[in-house]
Amino acid sequence: MNYPNNPMPWRLEWSQELSVHIPEIDAEHKHFIELINALNEAIAERMSLSEVRKRMQDVLDDAVAHFDHEEILFIEWGYPEAEQHAREHAAAAEIFTNIMKRIEKSEQDYEWVEAGLQVKQLLVAHLLNEDMKYRDYWLAQNNGQAPLKQG
Ligand SMILES: [Fe+2]
Ligand SMILES: [Fe+2]
Repeated sequence: MNYPNNPMPWRLEWSQELSVHIPEIDAEHKHFIELINALNEAIAERMSLSEVRKRMQDVLDDAVAHFDHEEILFIEWGYPEAEQHAREHAAAAEIFTNIMKRIEKSEQDYEWVEAGLQVKQLLVAHLLNEDMKYRDYWLAQNNGQAPLKQG
């Protein structure tokens, strides 16, 4: 669908469908979406390459910290798919590193646009395909209740 009047067609909006019903994780995912929006804003607004690079690095750093946090929670929960999920995180982190290496020194705008889209798609796909598995696991285990924080 086209949004001819939408000045920011690249923007991702949080919606309840993206909720994993675990407040601390939802908060991280929301923050993450904001960082991706900030990156794509810098690309769309043709900000300086140093600004685009900085925002790309913010997304990558945040992704790594968030992946680590999820993996710590999986251990706390005894989540049976923890290993498989951690492999997905490692694969995503490797793709990011490769994207960053590929474009780091590029002065070509289109390469940055493409990289921004790739990062966005990869993260949204991970959220919808992988993170939703632990949401479903928890909803099934706890009669619709999200896991309580331990300790
Ligand atoms: Fe996540
Ligand atoms: Fe994840």
